[in-house]
Amino acid sequence: MTTVRVDPAAHLSGELTTPADKSLSHRAAILGAMASGPVRVRGYLDAADTNSTLAAVQQLGARIERDGDALVIRGVGLRGAAASEEPIDVGNAGTLMRLLPGWLAAQDGRSFTLDGDASIRRRPVDRIAEPLRRMGAGVEATDGRLPPFTVSGARLWAVTYEMPVASAQVKSCVLLAALGADGETTVSEPAPSRDHTERMLAAAGVDVRREGRHITVRGVEELALDELVVPGDPSSAAFPLAAALIVPGSRVVLRGVGVNWTRSGFVRIVQRMGGDVRGKLEEPGDEIATSEPIADLEVVAGALQGTVVEPAEVPLAIDELPLVALLGCFAEGETVVRGAQELRLKESDRIASVVDGLGGLGASIEATDDGFVVTGTGGLRGGTIKTHGDHRLAMLGAVAGLASREGVEVDGMEAAEVSYPRFETDLQSLFTSR
Ligand code: S3P
Repeated sequence: MTTVRVDPAAHLSGELTTPADKSLSHRAAILGAMASGPVRVRGYLDAADTNSTLAAVQQLGARIERDGDALVIRGVGLRGAAASEEPIDVGNAGTLMRLLPGWLAAQDGRSFTLDGDASIRRRPVDRIAEPLRRMGAGVEATDGRLPPFTVSGARLWAVTYEMPVASAQVKSCVLLAALGADGETTVSEPAPSRDHTERMLAAAGVDVRREGRHITVRGVEELALDELVVPGDPSSAAFPLAAALIVPGSRVVLRGVGVNWTRSGFVRIVQRMGGDVRGKLEEPGDEIATSEPIADLEVVAGALQGTVVEPAEVPLAIDELPLVALLGCFAEGETVVRGAQELRLKESDRIASVVDGLGGLGASIEATDDGFVVTGTGGLRGGTIKTHGDHRLAMLGAVAGLASREGVEVDGMEAAEVSYPRFETDLQSLFTSR
């Protein structure tokens, strides 16, 4: 395990190009493998999670070639995934674990076992098993709900599925399975979640429609995708963005950030707290776009006010909620996050790990069943934070260190490799010592 000490910064200044989007990279590799013709992917993320996805689709028969900065994925078609004796290793990647079975479910007569690291083995798959079984596939999980688990492909039928939780992973899994099913599948989400899968399917010529909270997709024979472009990851950008807000005197420009409305909840929360973040965010709409909007964001440090994050905002900022807790420490008054019980099912129990982690650095923060309450004290002392192998905790600790009075030791910094391998170098490039 690597322990990294992050010293307080005088201020942060300069600009960064945000690393490629992890969510979109997983989807690009999976859809590329499902396509019959070659798909060129520009800007694929080179990180541990998304490399697990490339290895998984190769195991299923897809071929991957590098062409300059791009990847060319030669897929095996919607029903052509090769059976595999060896389990598919998803590593630490929850998105891979929950999306891939949507495709595998349509491989009539073939079975696939998926497994991953210790963190993956505590993350539930019953949420995807239920709709896939309804569509006709078999899913056998450890203790009925955990990896390792086996998906037995079948001829699928279309369903109408009401999702109990707003999860883009579950929604995407059902949409991918629906491509291989006869007829029209409708999946209904309790609140909007990220819509990358819908956009990529629309770009691939699939008949996919949204009406309010209902998304309908019709089964197809083939996907017609030529090229996919992966923008910068707003969830990765959120870390230097938060650092620039709370290290006094900072001004940072983040280039090429994805500003899809379903991913920019954090920026809207920050702006409501009084944070100075400038850039053109996408507006919401019912039409499914076929591409992803990109913008540069300029961030200037300044005073923040506490805020309340309500349940409907949670899926739109789910991976950035640890940063809302950190900003809350520096804000005036109370910051409350409600309706975020899903955080307990991430790479770590992110309610417990954030509350213990920031609490150990001097924050006044309390856990609730479905979120946390932070009382701003205008700063953070510093100390040691454990990442529990969770990349977002590692980056949270480093950002806290920059803005702290005494610095922070991040115990398990290597976890950042999963989504943002350049993270330490990028922060260093903005850093002026205090
Ligand atoms: C993701 C969806 C979210 C998010 C995860 C990536 C995706 O999970 O936390 O990091 O790519 O669809 P849930 O859909 O389970 O909330």
